[in-house]
Amino acid sequence: MTTNTTESTTGEPTKICCLGAGYVGGPTMAMIAHQCPDIDVHVVDLNPERIAAWNSEELPVYEPGLYDIVKQARGRNLRFTTDVPAAIREANMCFISVNTPTKTFGIGAGRAANLEFVEKCARTIAENSDTDKVVVEKSTLPVRTAESVKRILSSASSTVKFDVLSNPEFLAEGTAIDDLLKPDRILIGGDSSAAIEKLADVYKHWVPDEKIIRTNLWSSELSKLTANAFLAQRVSSINAISALCEATGADVDEVAAAIGTDSRIGPKFLKASVGFGGSCFQKDILNLVYLCEHFGLPEVAQYWEQVVKMNDYQKYRFTTRIVKKMFNTVSSKKIAIWGFAFKKDTNDTRESAAIYVCRDLLEERAKLTIFDPQVSLEQIRKDLEYLIAGPNGELTDAERHLLNDNVTVAKSAEEAAYGAHAIALMTEWDEFKDCDFQSIYKSMMKPAFVFDGRNLLDNQMLADIGFDIESIGKP
Ligand code: UDX
Ligand code: ADP
Repeated sequence: MTTNTTESTTGEPTKICCLGAGYVGGPTMAMIAHQCPDIDVHVVDLNPERIAAWNSEELPVYEPGLYDIVKQARGRNLRFTTDVPAAIREANMCFISVNTPTKTFGIGAGRAANLEFVEKCARTIAENSDTDKVVVEKSTLPVRTAESVKRILSSASSTVKFDVLSNPEFLAEGTAIDDLLKPDRILIGGDSSAAIEKLADVYKHWVPDEKIIRTNLWSSELSKLTANAFLAQRVSSINAISALCEATGADVDEVAAAIGTDSRIGPKFLKASVGFGGSCFQKDILNLVYLCEHFGLPEVAQYWEQVVKMNDYQKYRFTTRIVKKMFNTVSSKKIAIWGFAFKKDTNDTRESAAIYVCRDLLEERAKLTIFDPQVSLEQIRKDLEYLIAGPNGELTDAERHLLNDNVTVAKSAEEAAYGAHAIALMTEWDEFKDCDFQSIYKSMMKPAFVFDGRNLLDNQMLADIGFDIESIGKP
């Protein structure tokens, strides 16, 4: 580990400001501050509640191991504030780590990324800079966004020099701390080798230099989209095969294990599920699709779009299976929803398959009792309201009644299952494996169904108790 003070291009010690204290900015900056005691790291956000939470015992992001790291660095060289201008002024390296959701309006709606927040950050940096700065894009962005950031920055001042770098984040939620600690690679794209090395020096505090890949800006930006598209494609591929397994009597977990031993394929990202979620996969593929269409490559666009379509099909197929197995109606039947986060070990629900399955079950008039160990009641209601309201954002009276009458949130998996006709397992939380299924079975209506959307539970054990169990891609 290097302990030398990291110096900026002007010979000053490196001082970092990160705009955006979310799932990426928060953990990434906490790790940098933890590993680089000589670097001041200032994380800012426009949302005062988020900043207050980062300064409290209850962080806004649930991530195993994160609190320990934050606690050690907070007050030493890690600060969370809402004073964006002051933090920018003090820094010589600014990270942009704000959200870039898919556009819901105007040109490219449903496909292109909404760059409003990134653009605002670039303008705020420009307005508050009177010394040279390295500006690092951390948000996932469409290829050539750096060009726009550069133009905004350079048009603001003729005296201050900005070097723009692309440094995409590859951490996965739930394992962010490990991913940050032992990254497969750090990717830095840019035009200025001095600026690239300045950022590389930060990572070299704990990452071996051979893991730091230097590229041009566009390669770096496109690599992030491509990595997520490839990962999502693997999940959609195995999910497509899961449908065939259910029809033919093959077992998708056996197929995945068999093909995963081929070293050319490898075992990771072959777990069939109710469908992928998260803030990145769908957004990044749609971004790629938009980009291909923009550059006149409709065949390439359609190829990648199919990965998202397959994911939509997988979510819909799961609900359809529930309805079919439950004698073609779930109307007024209580269904326990176990898990709402898009994967285990996170409180993030963005694009979670659970939201879509719940919406479709509510349309069938099922009564849902939802439990997730980390997702709050407010978040669950917000997600369902948002999806059910649709593009105009307004719930009709009928939709509001449906949500009020048919959705409750439970405090435990057992409470959710009490008196239910079925359990739909949506997130692979470890604690679900340890439930007392004997007593859960006794408390449920019969036949007692379990729809395991993650192939998490022991089918034989459940069948022996008396459950009617349905898993993904299993006979
Ligand atoms: C992803 C990328 O992995 C990460 O590199 C990038 O920085 C951000 O996007 P994340 O979305 O946090 O990370 O989680 P990931 O582990 O990739 O899972 C995404 C979704 O795919 C989850 O819903 C997960 O449950 C699902 N998944 C993953 C499967 O259904 N099966 C698998 O085999 C793997
Ligand atoms: P990600 O998963 O990419 O980290 P999040 O939505 O969790 O996305 O976090 C993004 C954060 O960026 C939010 O907390 C939001 O309030 C913040 N943000 C958005 N625009 C700005 C801005 N102009 N300046 C500072 N913070 C911003």
